Amino acid sequence: MAQPNTTEKKDTLKIIWRLFSFLKPYSLLVGLAFLLLIVSTLLSLVTPIITKTAIDKYILCYNFSGLPKIALLLLLVTVFQSVLSSFLRVLTEYISQNTVHYLRKTLYEHLNNLSIGFFDWSKTGELMARITSDTSLVGRLYGFASINMLVNFLTLIGIFVVVTIWQPLLGLLYLALLPFVYLAMKAYALKVRPLWRKNREASGEITALMQEVITSIRVVKLFGKENAELERFGAKNIEVRDLLIDTSRTSSFWMPYVGFLTSVASALVLLIGGFLVIDNKLTIGTLIAYTSYLGYLARPIRQSGFLINMIQSSASAGERIFELLDTVSKVEEKADAKEVPSVKGKLSFINVSFAYPNTKLLLKNINLEIEAGETLALVGPTGAGKSTLISLIPRFYDPSQGEIRLDDVNIKEYKLKSLRQKIGFVLQETFLFDGTIFDNIAYGKPLSTLEEVKSVAKAAEIADFIESLPKGYDTEIGERGVRLSGGQRQRIAIARVLLVNPPILVLDEPTANIDAGTEAKMEKAILNVSKNRTTIVIAHRLWALKNADRIAVLENGKLTQVGTHQELYQLDGFYAKAYKEQALDFSREEEI
Ligand SMILES: Nc1ncnc2c1ncn2[C@@H]1O[C@H](COP(=O)(O)OP(=O)(O)O)[C@@H](O)[C@H]1O
Ligand SMILES: [Mg+2]
Repeated sequence: MAQPNTTEKKDTLKIIWRLFSFLKPYSLLVGLAFLLLIVSTLLSLVTPIITKTAIDKYILCYNFSGLPKIALLLLLVTVFQSVLSSFLRVLTEYISQNTVHYLRKTLYEHLNNLSIGFFDWSKTGELMARITSDTSLVGRLYGFASINMLVNFLTLIGIFVVVTIWQPLLGLLYLALLPFVYLAMKAYALKVRPLWRKNREASGEITALMQEVITSIRVVKLFGKENAELERFGAKNIEVRDLLIDTSRTSSFWMPYVGFLTSVASALVLLIGGFLVIDNKLTIGTLIAYTSYLGYLARPIRQSGFLINMIQSSASAGERIFELLDTVSKVEEKADAKEVPSVKGKLSFINVSFAYPNTKLLLKNINLEIEAGETLALVGPTGAGKSTLISLIPRFYDPSQGEIRLDDVNIKEYKLKSLRQKIGFVLQETFLFDGTIFDNIAYGKPLSTLEEVKSVAKAAEIADFIESLPKGYDTEIGERGVRLSGGQRQRIAIARVLLVNPPILVLDEPTANIDAGTEAKMEKAILNVSKNRTTIVIAHRLWALKNADRIAVLENGKLTQVGTHQELYQLDGFYAKAYKEQALDFSREEEI
């Protein structure tokens, strides 16, 4: 029991310490805030002292003449104190929001630099929750929680000092209460922390679930799965509700204990303090001041519940933030990585093998050389590993064995960004952003002129379509390009790649899901764009195969055939068989 408890506490402290390290850029302001906090807390302790003086020195001595001065002092102290604490709140909010902003920025930048492999295994909604709500939670630690913890702590100590000076017995009495307070806090923290962690996880899962459904709403509706999805959501929703109720119940049951403690304290003070007054060891003013200090005590005790809560949840949020921040990219850039010089575009796969994490070997000993300017068609059955093979070129993943060379230099020698600039990718699934057609084409080169964009749109055989739209290149295409057809999206994606003018172009089944009319346009577009650059096209269609310089067949993770159309056609392999089947279909279609 004791062991996990102490390690958990150590971890929490470590996380909080690390969270506070993000305050470094603001250390001067933090120092100022600290100073303000001390002064304002001390001032708040002065009020009972003034009251005590007023009672003992003036009221009990029937001396009215001095009272107005004392009353004015009391007023001044209180007003000044409240102005100071307002200023303190503004200052801490400034520091806290700036730190959260910095944390969010760091996290987002880190996320952008993680390798694709990380995203294969992460849920989008959960990642979003880490960047948005987890950082906000931490913001409360920097602001509200820290201020109140410190104020409470200083108040507790300050009261002890003052009352001990007045009467050591009162100090002892006060001290005797503190262990109970501490124990109560500790018991509470142990119960509530795990609940909070679960709470955060469950809300993260809910966000992830919603995100998944909303992005694939078409599929959900087509399969009539609305109710099933509602049920899935409902179950999670109930889980979150129950957890929150549970958390609140745990915190609430702790409250009467606090109430009991303060009642015991008041009773004891009345008894012991009264005795001391009667025994002439204590003035009435002191007893009254002491009682008002006990009133001060209620605040730290009562607040400690939700302050601990807040700190615990910030620690959980911090834990999740650091988990993400500490994830190192599987694809690492060498410290002395270079920019890619102007290359011809020769690509060599040398003995490349690859497996996804925790799966069996997918690509086995791939040896392939693609000459600069060559067009290679990559064919093979679904699931053979074609998409995986090409995703190794921009280093979305690194080979488990072997290496890939660009103009005879291992691609690991280059900076990732620079390498990726040299490779144009048109994926099976095109990703367009919410914005205009112009913005989407110019994504990789935002400072392009309209003329430049027009010329690549023309090469991609999409210019006529765009120009037929009322708003032309300024047409808004909607989130992820939902207002365009598949073929139109593909050709916009091709134009986007062309604008960057990369020496290497990779097209992954660009004509899958495209009708025959559009396919002719795509064929022309691809012919246009593969000129003067190394092109790899994954495609099964005849025209792609006929236009390719060479064809490579990938079956079951192995390259089984590589050669020209003529060469492979002669052989009795996958290629010849597939080609003949398709040619048959093709001629049948022609007949009809
Ligand atoms: N991110 C991934 N993580 C784990 N396995 C994957 C991942 N992507 C694809 N696979 C698996 O790798 C195999 C090959 O996929 P892929 O390269 O897409 O084949 P192809 O493009 O030839 O159809 C498939 O069995 C697929 O399930
Ligand atoms: Mg594929």
